[in-house]
Amino acid sequence: MRKGFRTDLGWSDVTPKEQWLNRRQLMAGVGALVTAPPVLAQGAAAPGRYSTDEPPTALEDIAGYNNFYEFGYDKEDPARLAQGLTVDPWSVVIDGLVDRPGTYALDDLLSGVTLEERIYRFRCVEAWSMVVPWVGFELGALLGRVGVQPGARYVAFETLLRPGEMPGQQGGMIEWPYREGLRLDEAMHPLTLLATGIYDEPMPKQNGAPIRLVVPWKYGFKSIKSIVRISLVTDRPQTTWNMLQPNEYGFYSNVNPQVDHPRWSQASERRVGGGLLAPRIDTLMFNGYADEVASLYAGMDLTRDF
Ligand code: MTE
Repeated sequence: MRKGFRTDLGWSDVTPKEQWLNRRQLMAGVGALVTAPPVLAQGAAAPGRYSTDEPPTALEDIAGYNNFYEFGYDKEDPARLAQGLTVDPWSVVIDGLVDRPGTYALDDLLSGVTLEERIYRFRCVEAWSMVVPWVGFELGALLGRVGVQPGARYVAFETLLRPGEMPGQQGGMIEWPYREGLRLDEAMHPLTLLATGIYDEPMPKQNGAPIRLVVPWKYGFKSIKSIVRISLVTDRPQTTWNMLQPNEYGFYSNVNPQVDHPRWSQASERRVGGGLLAPRIDTLMFNGYADEVASLYAGMDLTRDF
């Protein structure tokens, strides 16, 4: 994939469709996604090219200290209140500018997909961070399978709307469902994951079961949980925090130690699980992924277009 600042990315700019289709898909023919169970990559536990070798945060911290406002505002609420969420059956609508739009059962979406472990730093705009061993696959692979059409420039995501099981959706300041979005080249970047698990286990409900986005160079709120809709669109989509407070939460929301949030300095961060006496650590530009992603934003003023 070509890197560089482009807002006019179209089909010809992303990897050719043929490279994404495996042999089985070709035999199954256009119009069908394959129906084989997901495969956990051999040696998935070994950190790959994109994984950090920093020690992962303990599972009880990753699954016990959460932001998932559909289940309340306190960090402990999601672990307690998300357990009643029905995650099976689950389907994802893929629509907009795609060759094969449809409502895909999660099993079909995952069929034939090779899941791999990616150990990523995860940095919340509230200035805490974790190191999370996600299990997932590249969003770009899925977009390749459904066929991105010319004219698509952004990808919009939506979380499940189910107030009966998500008590936070019965009120509050957020206009539900939770929404997020990426530019197409950000969505196609190999670091961008759809994750279905943590620590080789299915995704805990409080972390966004059964399938969520992970964009490790952006603040955590971009990594939308429990996704039910993925839309390929022309115009920049509306996103939850940007709709609420556009001056505080930009569309891009790339981790940037030089651009403070009105309530949180972004210069440093606290590693969750490090203990009260652990020193704060310096926050890195793009959360330490600058080598991989800085070229996506070449020519942009990241203090203005944040
Ligand atoms: N997705 C949905 N649907 N609802 C949310 O409230 N919170 C976001 C993001 N994704 C959120 C969401 C925020 S603010 C953060 S920091 C991360 O999820 C937290 O992910 P974690 O709980 O797995 O650490």
